[in-house]
Amino acid sequence: MSIRPQKPAPATPAPGKLPLTELAEMKQRGQRIVMVTAYDAPGGRLADQAGVDLVLVGDSAAMTVLGHDSTVPATMDEMVMLTRAVTRGARRPLVVADMPFGSFQVSDEEALRNAIRFVKEAGADAVKLEGGGPMLSRVRAIVGAGIPVMGHLGLTPQSATMLGGYKAQGRSAEKALALLADARALEAAGCFSLVLEAVPAPVAKRVTDRLEIPTIGIGAGADCDGQVLVWHDLLGLYDGRAARFVKRYADVGDTIRSALESFATDVRERRFPEEQHTYSMPNEELAVFDEAAALQRRE
Ligand code: KIV
Repeated sequence: MSIRPQKPAPATPAPGKLPLTELAEMKQRGQRIVMVTAYDAPGGRLADQAGVDLVLVGDSAAMTVLGHDSTVPATMDEMVMLTRAVTRGARRPLVVADMPFGSFQVSDEEALRNAIRFVKEAGADAVKLEGGGPMLSRVRAIVGAGIPVMGHLGLTPQSATMLGGYKAQGRSAEKALALLADARALEAAGCFSLVLEAVPAPVAKRVTDRLEIPTIGIGAGADCDGQVLVWHDLLGLYDGRAARFVKRYADVGDTIRSALESFATDVRERRFPEEQHTYSMPNEELAVFDEAAALQRRE
């Protein structure tokens, strides 16, 4: 009798999943890696159908779907819930859960406990965390437990206040050198990939050239090994001012707004629902119902 688990065990790739090791091979081959954020099951499914390689359940969810002004308020419970939805939709892409502010800063133990939650409760394939320096031991602890970690350097929105706002990082030789040192340290600590956000293109190129692991850029030029955009920015669903590095590929917000206006007009002008949207019942049943209801009214 063969004993086969019905479902893949945590940290075991599901059938059809892009192997994590493929990402480094893509870098070697010069094949670009595509990552997009998603926050629900339809998003995960559409990203999968579009053939993207990585789906990031970003803590940008705090702004894009939860309506906050920054990523900081996102909680573990919220991120676990969103990640669980995305993993139900995305089969082939690796799903990376973003560790929210406060979930990994306190200690290695707490970081590991929260990373395990993403894998066990939400089916994430990997986690992402922001920063270098003190975060290196977090990376080592999580990778040591068998959970792949993606790093994130440059503009790290969770510490935007410390960085002087949402602005490009690594624009002086000294800052660029510090960025390169952090990137190399994150690679040595075991990260499988590294997001570079809002970094001058020549700096991102040099960091990319010095690393064996792939870099995924957002506002970091064309020489990163892959690119990521936020779902709402890419699709035109976000109302705020878009960053310089955003390219809008659709105006889904306009499409949704105009569909809602048409619905509202149809309802108000009694054009919806039509015959085809309603259910009928046999005439004889309706006659019995009317008779019984009329009797009830007289009682
Ligand atoms: O939270 C997020 O969406 C991100 C991307 C911008 C990389 O971290």
